[in-house]
Amino acid sequence: MDTEKIFSKSVLEKPETKRAARANATLDLKKLIRMGWNENPYGMSPKALAANLEAAKTGNFYQDFWCADMKRAIADSYGISVKNLVVGAGSSPLIEIAGQAFLNPGDEVLMCPTFAAFIDMAEIRLDRVVSVPLREDMGYNLDGLAAAVTEKTKMIVICNPNNPTGGYLSYDEIMAFVEKVPRDVVLLFDEAYIEFATAPDCRSVVPLVFEMPDRPILVMRTFSKYYGMAGVRAGYIIANEEIAAGIGRVPGSWIPSAAQAAVVAALSEPEYYEECKTKIVAGRAYLSREMEKLGCTVYPSQSNFIMFDPHCDCAMVREKLIERGILISAPMFCRVSVSTPENNVLFIRYLGEILKAAKAA
Ligand SMILES: Cc1ncc(COP(=O)(O)O)c(C=O)c1O
Repeated sequence: MDTEKIFSKSVLEKPETKRAARANATLDLKKLIRMGWNENPYGMSPKALAANLEAAKTGNFYQDFWCADMKRAIADSYGISVKNLVVGAGSSPLIEIAGQAFLNPGDEVLMCPTFAAFIDMAEIRLDRVVSVPLREDMGYNLDGLAAAVTEKTKMIVICNPNNPTGGYLSYDEIMAFVEKVPRDVVLLFDEAYIEFATAPDCRSVVPLVFEMPDRPILVMRTFSKYYGMAGVRAGYIIANEEIAAGIGRVPGSWIPSAAQAAVVAALSEPEYYEECKTKIVAGRAYLSREMEKLGCTVYPSQSNFIMFDPHCDCAMVREKLIERGILISAPMFCRVSVSTPENNVLFIRYLGEILKAAKAA
């Protein structure tokens, strides 16, 4: 078979995507305590789970292609129109859809080190993806991004709070940045973790979509994290009607019926999720405190994960934790997701053992 003739140029010529590289790793996920991918350990709310199971009974029929109930429920939760929404099976496919909707060869996309799906989306389409280094304190570098804008800049990605750092940008910082950026540059805000924020100045930029109706501003949210539906798959973009309609022309906005049903039910049970958040925020404080006691540099987090520098080989720390049954990530330094109190305690115990052995070696 002559694969040179079969595959597209992007498959043949572009580097392997970060996600494809991950797919080649073999991990026995059933045996691991999952503290690596920023999932919600408490799962969906009871009504969301029941709705999800119930909808599976009619899985022989296609889903509602228009996602009418789901869109209505999301729109009502913000007091906006369903015309301001583009829905998808999580943020990852929506990131691809946004790439297809806005990017042409020759365009430039600007971002700081962030979630791999953005890097993959831009690299596969463009010759030049501008990655602006984070600030020294690991903050998302808005000044650096503003300085990197050229006439070719088509899109700027801002992840707030950012993954993998967990750090955040205040609403005022973002506003000042938005004012500086040329008006026709697409601003794609990813707020996958914003529900976990507790800092009063860490606020969603959804209002900007409506305050600046002439700007191409997209705010992306997912049900994977706060709503405990990472494997269920649902997410959405909020944008002005014209922009949402344009993005809507890209195919791929499919959401399984069971996911649509779960979203509608989840949005009717905010108390359940507030309780989860309280536990996760307490776990975040516990893990941060204990990792500092172990001598790690801990980066302040407004999300459901924490980045830390163990001051030894991060890949080794990850491997040793996997051997003991806990999955974490090591995208920059190490990154651990907040889990249940029992799992958090176990993680700290194992991390302590691993760091002690590393020091002694
Ligand atoms: C910044 C960011 N955005 C979005 C997502 C979620 O993607 P999805 O909705 O596809 O699960 C993640 C998951 O890790 C993330 O870190």
